[in-house]
Amino acid sequence: MRKFLIAGNWKMNGGAEFASDLLSSIKKLKPTISEDVDVLVCPPYISLSMAIDQLHETDLLVGAQNMHQADEGAFTGEISAKMLVEAGCSYVILGHSERRAYFHETDQLIHAKTKAALANDLAPVICVGELLEERKSGDHFKVVKAQVQAALDGLSAEEAVQIVIAYEPVWAIGTGETASPEQAQEMHAYIRGILKEQVGELSDAIRILYGGSMKPGNAGELLQQPDVDGGLIGGASLDAESFVSIITTAESLS
Ligand code: PGA
Repeated sequence: MRKFLIAGNWKMNGGAEFASDLLSSIKKLKPTISEDVDVLVCPPYISLSMAIDQLHETDLLVGAQNMHQADEGAFTGEISAKMLVEAGCSYVILGHSERRAYFHETDQLIHAKTKAALANDLAPVICVGELLEERKSGDHFKVVKAQVQAALDGLSAEEAVQIVIAYEPVWAIGTGETASPEQAQEMHAYIRGILKEQVGELSDAIRILYGGSMKPGNAGELLQQPDVDGGLIGGASLDAESFVSIITTAESLS
C-alpha cells in the first residue's frame, strides 16, 4: 500500500546556518526513520547541496521547491531538473499556490515542468487547491479537477505513478486555519477518483498529501483519513521538534 510521505517545504526561510542547524536538530531528535515513512526536506536552492551532504547516510530525502522546464540554456536565474538530480535531489515541488499567485504559473507551465521532472527521474509533488472564494462559491471540486487533469494530461500510467499530488487549500496555507479531516478526506477521495479515470487501478499507488497549517496538534487526525497519504508542511517544518513530532505520528499510524 501507499507509504506516508512527510515533506517539509521551507519556502524562502533561513540561510546556510539556519539550514545546517535545523537539519542537525532533526537528525539528533530522529536518528532513524521507519522504513514505512518517507521523509523529505525542501530547503531553498542555495542550501540544497549542503543538505544533501549533511543528510548523506540518513533516511532523509532532499527535494527542491521549484525548477525550470528546460534542461539548460539562456534562462537567467533558473535551475533545471537535470541540475537538481545531479545535485542529489529526488523530488521537486511544482505549482505551489504561491508560485501560481506571485509568479503567474499556469496549469500549462506546471504540466511542462511535470514532464521535464519525470524525464529526469525527479518525482514531482504537484500542488493543487482552491482559493477561499472558490470554496465559498462551491467551485472547489471543479477548480481542483481542472488543476489535476491539466498536470497529468497525456502522462502514461508509468509516469503518473511516480507523481505525488499535494492538496493544499489556499485558505489554509500559513493561516493557522486547517481543512477539517472530513474536508481533506472528501477532496482527497475526489482527487483519487480523477486519478483513477486517468490511470485506472494504478491510481491506488499515487500518494496524495494534505498541506495547509498541518502541525503536531492536527497531523494525527488528518493522517488517519484513508486517502491522506502524508503532509506538505510549511511553517511547522521550520521547527525540528514539530517536524519530528509529525514524522513520529506518521510512523505510529503506519
Ligand atoms: P503551511 O504551508 O504548513 O505553513 O500552511 C504549507 C505549504 O505552503 O506547503
